[in-house]
Amino acid sequence: MKIGIIGAGNIGHTAARLFVKADHEVAISNSRGPESLRDVVSELGEKAHAATVDEAAAFGEVILLAVPWSKPEALPNAQTVAGKIVIDAMNPYKPGGGLYDLDDSTSSEETAKRLPGARIVKAFNTIWYKHLAEQGDVSKPEGQRRAIFVAGDDADAKAIVSDLIRTIGFAPVDTGSLHEGGRKQQPDTDIYNKSLTGAEAREALASV
Ligand SMILES: NC(=O)c1ccc[n+]([C@@H]2O[C@H](COP(=O)([O-])OP(=O)(O)OC[C@H]3O[C@@H](n4cnc5c(N)ncnc54)[C@H](OP(=O)(O)O)[C@@H]3O)[C@@H](O)[C@H]2O)c1
Repeated sequence: MKIGIIGAGNIGHTAARLFVKADHEVAISNSRGPESLRDVVSELGEKAHAATVDEAAAFGEVILLAVPWSKPEALPNAQTVAGKIVIDAMNPYKPGGGLYDLDDSTSSEETAKRLPGARIVKAFNTIWYKHLAEQGDVSKPEGQRRAIFVAGDDADAKAIVSDLIRTIGFAPVDTGSLHEGGRKQQPDTDIYNKSLTGAEAREALASV
C-alpha cells in the first residue's frame, strides 16, 4: 500500500518505520520540507521518500495525520485528500498543555470538518509512540497482540485501516462511529494509553 505521512515526529517517524518494514511504500513530510528529512529517509530505506505535505498527501492511498491537532495549517490541502482514506492520529492537546473543550464534538469530527470529503478513520490515538515502536508482533495471533483502536463512519475505510494495522503486528479493535467511537478514544478515557491485548481491549470497551 502507498502511505502518505504528514508529520515526521514521534508518531509519524515511528509509523513510517513500521510501514516500510511491512513492505508498504511511504512518502513522509514535515513542516520544514523534504531536505530536512534526508537522514530520516536514509534510515527508512528505499521504500521511503521525503516529500512536501501536499506531495505526501497526493502519493498516499492512505494518509496518516501525525501533526499537532492545534495546528490546522499543518494539514494537507483538503482537495488533495478528498475521497482518500485519512487516518487521524491527532489528539486535541493545547500547545501549552491540557485539552481543548470540544463540547459534544470530538477531535476527529473536527478534523473531518477541516478536510471535507476525506474518509476519516481515527486510529493510533491511544498508543504511546514507544509502545507503537516496540509492541507490534506479527507472529502472535490477533487476540494476543496489542490493540490499536479504530473508529469511523466509512466501513470500507475502517476495514482497510484495520488490515494495515494487522500488517504491522497489532490487533485492530473497532470502537464504533467517529462520534461515539471517537469519544471512547479520547485522552480522558479508560482505554487511553493502556497496553491491552485485542481480547482485553474488547472487554474493556464494554465499560467505556
Ligand atoms: N507522541 C505520542 O506518543 C502520540 C501518541 C498518539 C497520538 N499522538 C498525536 O500525534 C500527533 C503528533 O504527535 P508527535 O508526538 O509525533 O509530535 P512531534 O514529535 O512534535 O511531531 C510533530 C510533527 O508535526 C510537524 N508539524 C507540521 N506543522 C507543524 C506546526 N505548524 N507546528 C508544529 N509541528 C508541525 C512537525 O514538523 P517539524 O519536524 O518540521 O517541526 C513534526 O514532524 C499529535 O497530534 C499527538 O497528539 C502522539
